[in-house]
Amino acid sequence: MSGPVPVEILRQHLIDPEICIRCNTCEETCPIDAITHDGVNYVVKADVCNACMACVPPCPTGAIDNWRNVLKAQAYSIEDQFGWDELPTQNPTVGAADAAAAPDLPQAATAASDGDEAPGSGSDMVRGSTVPPWSAARPYVHLYTHKAPTTATVVGNYRLTDDAASSDIHHLVLDFGAMPLPVLEGQSIGILPPGTNAGGRAHHARQYSVASPRDGERPGYNNVSLTVKRVTRDHSGNATDGVCSNYLCDLKKGDVVTVIGPFGNTFLMPNHPNSHLLMICTGTGSAPMRAMTEYRRRRRLKGATGKLMLFFGARTQQELPYFGPLMNLPKDFIDTNLAFSRTPGQPKRYVQDAMRERAVDVAHLLKDGGTHIYVCGLKGMEDGVLQALGEIAQAHGMAWDALWERLKREGRLHLETY
Ligand code: A2P
Repeated sequence: MSGPVPVEILRQHLIDPEICIRCNTCEETCPIDAITHDGVNYVVKADVCNACMACVPPCPTGAIDNWRNVLKAQAYSIEDQFGWDELPTQNPTVGAADAAAAPDLPQAATAASDGDEAPGSGSDMVRGSTVPPWSAARPYVHLYTHKAPTTATVVGNYRLTDDAASSDIHHLVLDFGAMPLPVLEGQSIGILPPGTNAGGRAHHARQYSVASPRDGERPGYNNVSLTVKRVTRDHSGNATDGVCSNYLCDLKKGDVVTVIGPFGNTFLMPNHPNSHLLMICTGTGSAPMRAMTEYRRRRRLKGATGKLMLFFGARTQQELPYFGPLMNLPKDFIDTNLAFSRTPGQPKRYVQDAMRERAVDVAHLLKDGGTHIYVCGLKGMEDGVLQALGEIAQAHGMAWDALWERLKREGRLHLETY
């Protein structure tokens, strides 16, 4: 007599195509290349994913945190997943079998919201904090979704970069009228561009960090600003027209845009007095820094203390968004350091070079438990900045590995690069 044939059950990791904003964070974070994408969906390879959870905390929307119990032999292939508009429902028969057959399967981590560090999130995998600063305000997230978006009216659209500059960066102001859109500095919103892609499906949302403080681009107004660079090249440098950036840069006053979000619950600023901000950015990565700086400027009038130190990189002064307003800020309010890489007749200079030149003051901030570090901009900058921080720390008697872990654990090192 033979017994029942054992069936292997897999708790399959899936990405919700209805929520995912295709920001590529999960694919970049996955240490074993289990995540891939086509022009439509981000998907997980069932035979590669080991549920290490490294990708879960950094996902800004939570789309990554979806699981279905399936018979291993019938796991959804990546081709299946590429074709989805929404996740399949859980087959209740397999779901019921889960408890008995697979008691040790990992649970989806919610480290970003409950404060625990996810398993497998060592410094080799997650390089920045997965928790917010302890004194950050509580963010609202997912108030508006693909299924139930909101709309905003364009009340301003200004080119920030010099007319002669090669990059076309815009400052866009969106008014939400009577619709509530509580958004904190460091959070982002998603824009749904109109129209469909080559496959006839609606374009997915593109995510933009807000450039305005929580009380509005104009204080007391229900409006939000974004910093948008017109995309004219893909990552390989080939000519292409970015769908959403071109749509946004060409908008006129009075046009109406469709919005989802807000997103993000860790890249948030501290609110306790005497907390310092060390901000490092390139190009449109300046958006959250502008939001935080402006919030601090407004609060300063009400007695906020704490230092602000900014390192901002661009090709030339003409390409640096917000150059004029930035230079008008009082020196005793913000310590601004610019790094230009393509000024004719000048050597190439990156933010990390400027940080090294200011090593003594950076070290001073690193030694202070009230310092919170924010890095936003080009992906390539992340390595360079972490390297510079490490060198500066070591040169000033701080053990970088231990300090790095502490900064992460305490919600004091936030990286957002793309
Ligand atoms: P580069 O002149 O080498 O491109 P962009 O204008 O493309 O958004 O870039 C903003 C700035 O970031 C530019 O000055 C660019 O210099 C610089 N940059 C490029 N790669 C890095 C890197 N690995 N680390 C720091 N800055 C970088």
